[in-house]
Amino acid sequence: MSRANSKKSSARLRGNVALVTGATRGIGLAVSRALARESCNLILTARDASALSRVSEELAKPRGTRATIRVLAQACDVRDPHSVDALFRAIRPEHSRLDILINNAGIAHANLPVDKLSFPAWKDVLATNLDGTFLVTQAALAIMRRGGTIVNNLSIAANRVFPGSAAYIASKHGALGFTRVLREELRPRRIRVIGLLPGATDTDIWKVLWPQAPHRKMISPEAVAQAVLDAILLPSNATIESLEVLPSGGTL
Ligand SMILES: NC(=O)c1ccc[n+]([C@@H]2O[C@H](COP(=O)([O-])OP(=O)(O)OC[C@H]3O[C@@H](n4cnc5c(N)ncnc54)[C@H](OP(=O)(O)O)[C@@H]3O)[C@@H](O)[C@H]2O)c1
Repeated sequence: MSRANSKKSSARLRGNVALVTGATRGIGLAVSRALARESCNLILTARDASALSRVSEELAKPRGTRATIRVLAQACDVRDPHSVDALFRAIRPEHSRLDILINNAGIAHANLPVDKLSFPAWKDVLATNLDGTFLVTQAALAIMRRGGTIVNNLSIAANRVFPGSAAYIASKHGALGFTRVLREELRPRRIRVIGLLPGATDTDIWKVLWPQAPHRKMISPEAVAQAVLDAILLPSNATIESLEVLPSGGTL
């Protein structure tokens, strides 16, 4: 499929409602754009309220379409149960159900061996990548519709290890375990749970993780978003449980 074709809108998700965490940049923004092009209504979150309002203005009128979609932008810190609670209090008057949840918000830490990694940095990464995924999922389950889809953005770091990334690796290994349990628990509700495992993707996260990383081989956030959209659009009785999207030129 050509790049131009992959960006065509066909409104296949018209009437659906998706919540995307970490929607202002990188993979979350690319997934939000892909859903918007399919006329999916969006609930967008991140901590930075001004970035959120810029993105929601852009996505309310998706490029290449004449359609408008409903976009609710609500700042939320996924590490904080009260903030997650406030997010869902803002959602309920607008939407009675959720069709798609994209748990994407995540952070990395500077590449440091365990003896140099500070405890606050460890806790922040675990709180964002692991606690955040739990808190948002738990709140969403109350309104998730039967037959819906949850995508947890993990990483290839969920089942591989890289020295210098202890907290990131621990958070993603933990999130993979959580994802696998959730999948089994939600089978009776026919809710598909997809573990997304991207390889190196060209986003701002590398400014923290490895500022000198060579971006030449990285995949684009749009390529990851295309794979996510294709998985969501599978017939509801089929699923991709583990979605690895990798640079075809090999690892960095
Ligand atoms: N880039 C890669 O190579 C790669 C590979 C595999 C997996 N991933 C995963 O993909 C996900 C997205 O990463 P990215 O590369 O797209 O990074 P990014 O460009 O830095 O985007 C991260 C997003 O998460 C939000 N966020 C961070 N902390 C948050 C918090 N406490 N509460 C709510 N939102 C928060 C950020 O907005 P605010 O700062 O405004 O909150 C931003 O919208 C992460 O889970 C990451 O682990 C990335």
